Amino acid sequence: MSMSVSPRRMKKFRDIVWRHYHEHGRALPWRNTKDPYRIVASEIMLQQTQVERVLEKYPIFVRRFPSWKRLARATPAQALAAWQGLGYNRRALALKRIAETVVRKYKGKLPKDPALLEEFPGIGSATAGSICAFAFNIPVPFIETNIRRAYIHFFFPKKRTVGDDDILPLVKRTVDTHNPREWFWALMDYGSMLGRREKENPNRRSSQYHKQSKFRGSDRQLRGNILTLLIREGMLSHQAIAKKLNEPRARVRKIILSLAKEKFIHVHEGKVNIVR
Ligand code: ADE
Repeated sequence: MSMSVSPRRMKKFRDIVWRHYHEHGRALPWRNTKDPYRIVASEIMLQQTQVERVLEKYPIFVRRFPSWKRLARATPAQALAAWQGLGYNRRALALKRIAETVVRKYKGKLPKDPALLEEFPGIGSATAGSICAFAFNIPVPFIETNIRRAYIHFFFPKKRTVGDDDILPLVKRTVDTHNPREWFWALMDYGSMLGRREKENPNRRSSQYHKQSKFRGSDRQLRGNILTLLIREGMLSHQAIAKKLNEPRARVRKIILSLAKEKFIHVHEGKVNIVR
């Protein structure tokens, strides 16, 4: 069911997003380049890893593998070694396969067509859209977590559940066709800010959020992820663990309780650590 939104309301939204960007836009290293290789590498990293961590790892990775060619020539083990700390290793292998295909099939030039981009491993509609915007300045409406949060917050302040099919028409109607590159940066910055506030996270009302929390990884998988995280990082709060793993805090709390009962971890003054 499409929602009617007045042109005035649309303009208000654009104004707020641009204003936030002009005052608080983030200067991020992958925003300093139009090199499709660097854009794709950063977007794959940003799919499941927080900006703070990507900020540490991205410069090292692109120094080690500065081009499609160099990554295509690397061994999977070398690619994985440079990926350490980013998590979800299959993404490193996907990125390497993308590099191989770009070099062999596309003569080193990444295609600009979102449908072709979606044929690559590790690239879905959101990543294809972000690559089109950031590498080629081509406006392709797409939704990712920060963008979703921005639209839910502004256009659906009262609605109990909001589907991506409610949001996409609004993304289409608000997209800046002259400057999609900066427009999508601005949207992401605005949505990210909304997620860092104390108030309720608007994405809790997204139907995606419910789908994901129902079916996303089993408890067993989350147990494994919590242990891996603690081995790597040492002592962490419940909140830090929930945030790093992008999981609801209540779920993390429940799993931590069971891990502590089985003496895999100990909890002391709200901090969790691995039992060594
Ligand atoms: N800037 C460019 N791409 C981004 C992303 N996926 N998340 C946050 N900031 C970005």
